[in-house]
Amino acid sequence: MAEWQRTHTCGELREEQVGQTVTLNGWVLITRNYAKQVFVDVRDRYGLTQVVFEADDADLFKEANTLGREWVISVTGVVRKRLPGMERDIPTGTIELVATALRVLNPCPPLPFSVTEFPDEDLANEDLRLQYRYLDLRRRSLQQVLILRHRMNKAVRDYLDARGFLELETPLLGKSTPEGARDYLVPSRVFNGEFFALPQSPQLYKQLLMISGYDKYFQVARCLRDEDLRADRQPEFTQLDLEMSFVVQDDILGLIEGLAGDIFGKCLGASLSTPFPRLKYADAMARYGSDKPDLRFGLEIVDVTDLAGESDFGVFKTAIAAGGRVRAINAKGAADKFSNTALKPGGELAKVAETYKAKGLAWMKAEGEKLTGSIEKFFPDALKIRLREQLGVQPGDLLLFVADTESVVCDALGAIRLHLANKLGLVANSREYKFVWVVDFPMFTWDDEEKRWAANHHPFTAPRDEDLSLLESDPGKARAKAYDLVLNGYEVGGGSIRIHRQDVQQRVFGMLGMDPAEARTRFGFLLDALQSGAPPHGGIALGLDRWAMILAGTTNIRDVIAFPKNQKARDLMTGAPALVDPRQLKDLGIRLG
Ligand code: AMO
Ligand code: AMP
Repeated sequence: MAEWQRTHTCGELREEQVGQTVTLNGWVLITRNYAKQVFVDVRDRYGLTQVVFEADDADLFKEANTLGREWVISVTGVVRKRLPGMERDIPTGTIELVATALRVLNPCPPLPFSVTEFPDEDLANEDLRLQYRYLDLRRRSLQQVLILRHRMNKAVRDYLDARGFLELETPLLGKSTPEGARDYLVPSRVFNGEFFALPQSPQLYKQLLMISGYDKYFQVARCLRDEDLRADRQPEFTQLDLEMSFVVQDDILGLIEGLAGDIFGKCLGASLSTPFPRLKYADAMARYGSDKPDLRFGLEIVDVTDLAGESDFGVFKTAIAAGGRVRAINAKGAADKFSNTALKPGGELAKVAETYKAKGLAWMKAEGEKLTGSIEKFFPDALKIRLREQLGVQPGDLLLFVADTESVVCDALGAIRLHLANKLGLVANSREYKFVWVVDFPMFTWDDEEKRWAANHHPFTAPRDEDLSLLESDPGKARAKAYDLVLNGYEVGGGSIRIHRQDVQQRVFGMLGMDPAEARTRFGFLLDALQSGAPPHGGIALGLDRWAMILAGTTNIRDVIAFPKNQKARDLMTGAPALVDPRQLKDLGIRLG
């Protein structure tokens, strides 16, 4: 061991070591320079130790006075108990190291921002921190997140290994698996003009593994999707991808509930109650206006179409006559939380509805025993009584209505629901975890732009047996053996039982507008494999970044990825994507326009 190398980490020393001579290696977090003493907080990933340089060793003291933030040092000294009253509330807080030797391993000029330990509120702006991500990663809270991810991956691997799963790798350079996003393409040098697609997920490879007989597969897989980013989306993200043969939906759901329990237990020491509730897609949309409902609060949506149709309010009657719905939320006790201005067209709440294409937001307030507001006059007394009953109205409640097509009503009231919960502080406990399975998704959704049916999950998802006959006759009604796992309003997983019969797969491709020739060109290998002894199979993928976000208590996915892209899908640290050497393009047969 070289003389400068550490005998202990910066988080290790306690009163037991008092009197011992030790060496620490680490980064200078901060120095406090006084006439007779220099205090240096030295940090590594294990913790922080206070080092004291005393003025009586003049040379050493002088050198200590030159130290700057983030210098890498080796310091040897004697562990001493701190004076009473000088202890700090950190694991090494009862001792300090009295330095006898200092070696600067690497000095550095003043850095673009300081690596603050506490409080995190003083953070430099995010773009700057992303540009110097290697500095930001020194922060304690980011370290804790990366450690958490390690624990989560370990829990996943232990759980699945114990149940006979094999961790198998699948290619990054392959053929596109459509998961609904644009592909990242990789040009081939050997075959100019031809491209690999980076995987949006290992979907087809894992199905092929089932056909090969590897009946329990998993992979901590990187997925790449060129799509518009949001706070919970990255172009490059990590899935726990898994697949099993000879299973039905309940087998997958049960397996994942057990895994969730292990992850929460091992990462947070929290226990979950299982099984998780299951909600049909249609009910999720009707009651929460979303296929990823946040069940930490109520504010359920109630259909009042029948009642509204009997009122004299033209807006409601017109919407109903056009085949639409009228639905409402009773925001309990919120009447005095929103002024009439907030409720007026263009006001705070109305704007939320308008963002989701609603033509307006109608409202009433329950003031004492009376209903007030601009549309109250359209409801005769008898109707008001029924409305109060149906919505469980009590004095002080605020009632909000949207009348429109089914999908606009869902989107608008779904958004209003989240806005209300946020505004009314209904999620008081940040350590509350509400899982729910959303099941019975539709097979297809109508893509109005392209005027064709699109797969709701992906094209390899099996229809429910009883809906097989609806595939061509009433595609909008056919439901899939697909399921999403939702946690606190985030979609944290999705999967399905797959089509394992070639004829059914052909029919689904046909419904998606692929004629047999195109289906063969794009997915011939799959169609052949399905005819080569494909067992019934199904699986799921969990979005591990989103799990880490929720476990870590952040709403920003970039906080849980070591080297994330920014919101425009750029890596600010390396500058990627970047221009390349013209010779590289020439090799690939690419000319830029
Ligand atoms: P799906 O597309 O639903 O299913 O993805 C599974 C889960 O991955 C997470 N996720 C994302 N996380 C971060 N950034 C993104 N851009 C992103 N996109 C998705 C979500 C989602 O629930 N092959 C199928 C799975 C299967 O059928 O087995 C698939 O990829 O948490
Ligand atoms: P108006 O009669 O158009 O002045 O609208 C009266 C109230 O009904 C206003 O608060 C509007 O925001 C609201 N409103 C208008 N269209 C709709 C709609 N489609 N659904 C719900 N409320 C609406």
